[in-house]
Amino acid sequence: MIERLLLTGAGGRLGSYLREPLSQLCTELVSTDIKSKIGPLYKNEKFVSADLARFDEVLPLTEGVTMICHFGAVVDELPFDNLLGPNFVGSYNVWESARKNNVKRIIYASSIHAVGMYSKTKTITPSTHHKPDGFYGLSKCFSEDLAKMYFDKNGIEAVCLRIATCAPVTTARSLTSWLSYDDLVLLVTRAIDSISTEFSIIYGVSNNDRKNIDNSEAGHLGFLPQDNAEKYASEIFESDLAEELIDPGNQFHGGPFASTALGVSPMEKMKIIHKLKGE
Ligand SMILES: NC(=O)c1ccc[n+]([C@@H]2O[C@H](COP(=O)([O-])OP(=O)(O)OC[C@H]3O[C@@H](n4cnc5c(N)ncnc54)[C@H](O)[C@@H]3O)[C@@H](O)[C@H]2O)c1
Repeated sequence: MIERLLLTGAGGRLGSYLREPLSQLCTELVSTDIKSKIGPLYKNEKFVSADLARFDEVLPLTEGVTMICHFGAVVDELPFDNLLGPNFVGSYNVWESARKNNVKRIIYASSIHAVGMYSKTKTITPSTHHKPDGFYGLSKCFSEDLAKMYFDKNGIEAVCLRIATCAPVTTARSLTSWLSYDDLVLLVTRAIDSISTEFSIIYGVSNNDRKNIDNSEAGHLGFLPQDNAEKYASEIFESDLAEELIDPGNQFHGGPFASTALGVSPMEKMKIIHKLKGE
């Protein structure tokens, strides 16, 4: 059992699914978010509101912490200035604080958008080089490189989770890219309980028949996803897909993030259901 675990982005959607299982893996879960409240706390959970862009607010959060699940970020394609503080500076603040406080490992919520400009005809793997589909994807590339640098120079282990689509299946794209909430919990649990991870990259994707993602290079993490989006295929193919299928982004792993202009949100086309756990 880990002593103290820090979860950033605890007030967000994925945070809402992770808080309870994470609280069971450690003696104390420190949850943080820029939001002032995140609802009722679990038994051994404490909440501290903090801005990732402020080093003086992040550093004290990492005191006595063994591992960090870094999920806090602005999650959209927006002008660079909107992402600079939370996503770029925020990641630096997390890793530099981790170095100062001897944190063992950081599990980082990276994204498929770090490699979103690859054609869907290409099978992407953990060693696939960065090919971001916008400033948001670029912030994930920056953070993965930061993670690698702090591992090589300072020995801080990192597991970068290139999460594809962790939300209910609502589009044809998500038949390939879906990561169920249960598989998310399994993935983060494996990243935490693996004895040694060194610097690892793994895709956050369920066992979907249609995925063109190969995680075998990350087999050492023992992530065996249990869900398969195929069960939603007939429902999705009965819906009106015309708008989705004519979008040029459809040809790329990044979907609408690949076809939108830099700094312009494609979120409407993603049809994400933004409900937190319990809503
Ligand atoms: N949901 C997905 O399908 C998906 C896919 C790929 C990657 N990810 C990554 O997973 C993580 C969580 O995503 P989510 O879907 O839960 O998004 P979300 O927007 O619901 O949660 C992100 C949280 O980060 C917090 N945050 C933003 N700016 C902050 C700041 N300056 N300081 C502190 N906290 C701040 C927000 O308040 C929010 O609660 C993100 O890093 C995202 O990039 C998610």
